[in-house]
Amino acid sequence: MNKQINDSLDIKITGEILAQSFPKRQGGTSFTTFLQTKKGQFVWKVATELPYREWLKKEAEVMELLNKETELPIPLFMHYKEQPEENSLLMSKLEGVPLREALHDANSIEEKRSLFLSFGTLLKLLHTTRPPGALLTKNIWLEKQLHTAAYNVKHYKVDGNEELLTYLKLNQPKPIPQTLIHGDCTIDNVLVKDGMVYAFIDLAGVAHGDPRYDLALATRSIQSNPLLVEAFYEGYDSTPISIEEFKYFDGGLYEFF
Ligand SMILES: Nc1ncnc2c1ncn2[C@@H]1O[C@H](COP(=O)(O)OP(=O)(O)O)[C@@H](O)[C@H]1O
Ligand SMILES: [Mg+2]
Repeated sequence: MNKQINDSLDIKITGEILAQSFPKRQGGTSFTTFLQTKKGQFVWKVATELPYREWLKKEAEVMELLNKETELPIPLFMHYKEQPEENSLLMSKLEGVPLREALHDANSIEEKRSLFLSFGTLLKLLHTTRPPGALLTKNIWLEKQLHTAAYNVKHYKVDGNEELLTYLKLNQPKPIPQTLIHGDCTIDNVLVKDGMVYAFIDLAGVAHGDPRYDLALATRSIQSNPLLVEAFYEGYDSTPISIEEFKYFDGGLYEFF
């Protein structure tokens, strides 16, 4: 085991590390290592840059809250640590592969349909779960996101620009009731086992917020495939968001995060 892992990890929690491996695809905000240890399998997620170090801290807090107050299928929080060079989060490793990988390996449209149907069902479960008390708020999530977007455009390299941000401020969709949301609900951040999407990972964006943001991100990769969008909403058991709502969030707000 290399020294860096030794310094950062609490061996008392993980047990002796027997082997390490890595996901097929790293995310954009962190470096993730799978650890095989005497006590089981863990995921060690490390962030070295801002704002991702802050996101990881939020993910740790929200994971602990959701573990305590809900039965949602997410990793178990184990440990969070801040060091001068990095923040790191240790959690349980869940079985399965990200939906992106499962779609890549799927051989038929039927397989893809059931993947998206189960994705819709899982997302409905999240949106109908009572948010933990600490997340519940009367504040409007979208306003806070627009505020953060304005900060991000000034301080970080993001895809969005001032012009788009002004448009988003002036053209907000009609408000709907806020729910528990994932906040980064793409095909990279849900896991598939036995042909079904069954768990959420990458939880830094979880909030009491606008469920249309999750719906837009969940379906962004299948916009040119109405059959799969239909399967997703069959699982979600509601009518689709409008094309205007979709575009407001995907290609709009998402460009600032
Ligand atoms: N608890 C977990 N169980 C299994 N695989 C995980 C887990 N957490 C992360 N992964 C894997 O690591 C990848 C990157 O993790 P993620 O939390 O999405 O990081 P990022 O915030 O950088 O996108 C995921 O796409 C997935 O393959
Ligand atoms: Mg991710």
